[in-house]
Amino acid sequence: MSGHVPVLLQEAVRLLMEASAPAPRLLLDGTFGRGGHARALLKLMAAEDRLVVIDRDPQAIAAARLLAENDDRVTVLHGEWNDVLDSLPSEGIAGVLLDLGVSSPQLDDAQRGFSFSVDGPLDMRMNPQAGRSASEWLNEAGEQEISRVIWEYGEERFARRIARSIVECRPLHRTGELRAAVLRALPARDKGKHDATRTFQAVRIHVNNELAAIESVLPKLFARLAPGGRMVVISFHSLEDRLVKRFFRECSSPPRVPRSVPVRAESAPAAARLVVRSVTAEAQEIAANPRSRSARLRALERCA
Ligand SMILES: C[S@@+](CC[C@H](N)C(=O)[O-])C[C@H]1O[C@@H](n2cnc3c(N)ncnc32)[C@H](O)[C@@H]1O
Repeated sequence: MSGHVPVLLQEAVRLLMEASAPAPRLLLDGTFGRGGHARALLKLMAAEDRLVVIDRDPQAIAAARLLAENDDRVTVLHGEWNDVLDSLPSEGIAGVLLDLGVSSPQLDDAQRGFSFSVDGPLDMRMNPQAGRSASEWLNEAGEQEISRVIWEYGEERFARRIARSIVECRPLHRTGELRAAVLRALPARDKGKHDATRTFQAVRIHVNNELAAIESVLPKLFARLAPGGRMVVISFHSLEDRLVKRFFRECSSPPRVPRSVPVRAESAPAAARLVVRSVTAEAQEIAANPRSRSARLRALERCA
C-alpha cells in the first residue's frame, strides 16, 4: 500500500487544535485518506477527545479501521459525506478538516484508473462500489455532455475536439485508451507538450460528483460546529477553491437585511470569522512534496 504525504500538515493541525470550543473536543476528519492529518491530530488530542473520520474509499477505510483498532478515540464512517451526516452529532463539533481531491494511493494504483501515465481499467471512482465508472459514463454519454464536462471541470480549450475523438474511439475500457483518444484530437503543434491531465481531472470530478458534494456539505458541516469551532479546508484546484472561498465569504459577512428593515450594522453580526484567508505551501514543502504546489488552505471559525 503506497503512502500519502499530508499537505500543509502543521498549519491545518495547529488551526484545528487552537479552536476555542469546549472540552472534550469532537473533531472530524472528512477526508481520511491514509490518515496523515488524523494521526497528527490524535497526537495532540486529549484522552477524552474524540475523532470521527470519513472517507468514501474502501481502501482508505481499511486503513482507518486499523487505526481505530488501536485508538478508541477514533470512529470510522464509510461513505460520501452527505450520506453519512446523520451519524454525526447535529451540533458541538470543535473542528472539521476537509483535505480535498484524490490521495496518492488512489493516483498511484493503476487498477484505480485515475492516472493517464500508467495503463489500467478506466474506473476513477473514489468508491468503486458505488456509482458509474469513468468507462461506463464515457461509453454512454453524448458528445456534448462529454465536451461540457471537459471544458468546465478541466478548463481544457480543446474540449470539443477531445469529446469528438472520445466518441469516435468508443468503447473505451482502459486509461491508455482514453489518453490515446485525447492525444489524437490535438493539433500537431500541441501533441508533444500536451498531456491528458485536464481531461482526466475533468472526468474524475464528474464521475465522483466532487463539486456538488463540496457545495452541499459545507453548510451542513458548518451548522454542526460549536461556537468557536473551526473548519479548515485544503483545496487543490481553482474550481474547488472557488466554492470554499464563496461559502467562507458568505458566512463571514454580516447577514443581508432587507432595506425596509431599519437595522444598524452592529446588530447583525456575521456567523463566522475568517481565521486564515488563504495559505499556500512554502517552497521547502513544495520541493519535498510537489503535490502541495497547488494546495490552498482556508480556515473559518464559527462565532459564539
Ligand atoms: C487528499 S486525500 C486526504 C489525505 C489525508 N488528509 C491524509 O493525510 O492521508 C482525500 C480523501 O478524501 C476522500 N474523499 C474525497 N471526497 C470525498 C467525499 N465527498 N466523501 C468522502 N470522502 C471523500 C478521498 O477518497 C480521499 O481518500
